[in-house]
This record gives sequence, C-alpha cells and structure tokens, in this order.
Amino acid sequence: MYSKKLTESIEKELEALKTAGKFKVERELEGAQGPEVEIAGRKVLMFASNNYLGLANHPGIVKAAKDSLGEYGFGLSSVRFISGTETIHKTLEKKLSEFLGTEDAILYSTNFMSNLGFFASITNEAFGAEKHVDVIYSDELNHASIIDSFKLCKKENLEKRIYPHGDLAALEQALEQDKDKNYRFKIIVTDGVFSMEGYLADLPKIKELAEKYEALLFVDDAHAVGVLGKTGAGTPEHFGLQGKIDVLSGTFGKALGGAVGGYIAGKKQITELLRQKSRTYMFSNSLPPSVVMASIKALDLLKEQPKLLSKVKENSDYFRNGARKLGFNVLDGEHPIVPVMLGDAALTQTMSKKLLEKGLYVVGLWFPVVPEGTARLRFQISAAHTTEQIDRALKILAEVGKEMGILK
Ligand SMILES: Cc1ncc(COP(=O)(O)O)c(C=O)c1O
Repeated sequence: MYSKKLTESIEKELEALKTAGKFKVERELEGAQGPEVEIAGRKVLMFASNNYLGLANHPGIVKAAKDSLGEYGFGLSSVRFISGTETIHKTLEKKLSEFLGTEDAILYSTNFMSNLGFFASITNEAFGAEKHVDVIYSDELNHASIIDSFKLCKKENLEKRIYPHGDLAALEQALEQDKDKNYRFKIIVTDGVFSMEGYLADLPKIKELAEKYEALLFVDDAHAVGVLGKTGAGTPEHFGLQGKIDVLSGTFGKALGGAVGGYIAGKKQITELLRQKSRTYMFSNSLPPSVVMASIKALDLLKEQPKLLSKVKENSDYFRNGARKLGFNVLDGEHPIVPVMLGDAALTQTMSKKLLEKGLYVVGLWFPVVPEGTARLRFQISAAHTTEQIDRALKILAEVGKEMGILK
C-alpha cells in the first residue's frame, strides 16, 4: 500500500479538479458510435464525435476489419522492426502517401505517438554529428501532443518560441529576431484545424514565412484529414498547397474510421530517419491488422464516394445556418466543428445537461479549456446525420434556448 500522504494528496487533487469544474465525466455509450447512440438505455442524437464521415460504424469498414481477423488474426505481438510489419502496413503507408501527395508515410499507433516521435527524432542529437541547437515556433493553441512532444526533446538541443494563437505577425517577428543566430534548423509547427473553434490555420501565409526563413513546416492535420480539400486530403489540399507542406501528421481516429492509428507523412528521408530513430515507433507495437485493413478501406471509400465529403459540408452549413436562424451566436467557419457561443460557463454547463435530458448529446467547453467568457457548445457534424436528425437537434436546441431565456 502506498503512503497515507500520497492517498491524501490524490484525494485533494481530485477534489480540486471538481471544484474548478475540470473533472471529466465519462458517459457510457451502449453500442456503436453513430449519428444516434444509446446512453443509459435511451437513444440520443450524437453531435459530439469526430466521426465526420460517419465511417466509425460503416458496413464496409466493419467488414474489412472482420475479414482481416480471419486472414491475419488479432495481433502481431511485435514492433515493426522485429516481426510486426505485414505487407498490409506497407500498402497502407503507400496509399496514404498517394492520398496526401507526399513521398512517403509512416504509421504509428496514434497521432499522439507520431507527434511525440517526430520532434525528438529530428531535434535530439544526430547520430555521428556535431552538437547543435534547433529552434521551434509553435502556436500556443497547438494540440497537447505537440506541446508534450517538446518535452521529449533535449533542452540543450532545442529552443522554443510559442507565438500567440494565429498571430502570424508575432511568428514573423520571432523568425526575424532569430534570423542571424546560429541555429542548425528551424521548425514551424501548427495544427491545420484548431478544434475549439474549427478555425483553419492560415497555411498560405505560414508557408510563405517558412519559405522566407528556411524553416521546416509541420502541420498536424488530425481534424482536417478526411474532411477538408476536394478529395479530403486536408488543409494543404484545401489551400492549394498539396505536396508543398514539409511534414504532415494525422490520425485514423477521427474521420477515417475513428478507431486508432496515426502517421507522419513527408519526404522519404524523413520517414526513413523516423524508422531508425523514433522511439514511439520503434518501441511500441505495430498497428493491428484489423485497424490497418479498415483504414485502407476508409481511404478507398473516400475515393469511391466523394459524396461523403460534400455531405458533411452540406450538413455543417445546414446546421450552422439553422442555429443562426434560431438566434444563436454561431462562429463562422467551413469545418464540421460548429461552436454555438454562450459566453457563460455555468450557463453552458446547465444547457448541455438539459440538452442531453431532451436527447441531444453535445459537449460544452469553458475556461480554462477556452478563454474566459467564451464558453460554448461545440457541435460536431457528420456526413451520417440525416436532415431529420439535424432538424431534431435544432428543435431541441431552440426549446432549451427558450426555456433558459437565451432565445426570445
Ligand atoms: C490536432 C490533434 N493532434 C493529435 C491528436 C491525437 O490523435 P490520436 O487520437 O490519434 O492520438 C488529436 C486528437 O484529439 C488532435 O486533435
């Protein structure tokens, strides 16, 4: 048994999290993820999932996963470089890089792992080379996995500049100040889509700065891959920059089937280095065949059914306009993340509870997750939502809005 002191300290911390409104409750779904799910024996509309294309329970994906079990079994009991590489891993890497327009791609167990693996591999000491210092420029609202990835980079090898969210003048100023310093190389890192607002990074401008200051540009496209761009290849395609972003990271855990699986895509020399050096790749099991086969299927479906992409966009516009017509303050955007701004944290907390009671599951976000005074309901729209389901969600939203005096 561990000490009384530790027991008390843990209890105290849990209490403090509750008092600060930071304690997360895990609601239990009973059955598959989808536009409607079952919670506590009741069907509710699901507007809080990253299942943007509705592939999480798509029959084609489920079949691909099931079939793979017969052929490849359940697991591989190995990391990639020992005995955990199947031909299907290589097939997925090839398909993924073709889809993204990159030279190569390397799979990780998650996008969290791919981000952790990338930065340490690039910035820590280079095998057989002299001592160095690199510098990294990172948007302050980049995903937790990017922030944590810097902690695996050795202090003596890396300096960090965190620029205010989306403030590219500040980014440029920092780049300018470092211009004549003796850094080995520079890296600019940004999320492609910031998930609290669904806002897109200004990639054309960031790319311009990366070119001007000869920095490597890294874009984490977790919320954009399978969602944005003509073929779903993410923010680079959306902005006409496909093939021009140095390094992309992303996930199969959101739009592309929604299970697990992350990647880094870019030049072959980068993926080769990662295969040699990246600890979260080398020392962690390879993706299970069912996930690999289902992910291959997800990429195939995206190609065969471009309607999925237009449908999620159509549905997002429909919901955004509908909520606005009701009188809510809805952020502008082109992503299926649609925040309905309420401002007050307590109000948002109460409202999300009332919505769930009436059968609408949506997540409320408040300080410190978002800036103080900008509490919101974050709706996430899916291609799988029917118009009837979106109408029903809007009806519930209107009812609760009126009941709470937010709408007249
Ligand atoms: C921008 C971004 N990067 C990385 C991740 C982590 O993805 P994964 O669930 O594959 O680890 C997420 C997921 O929330 C994300 O939003």
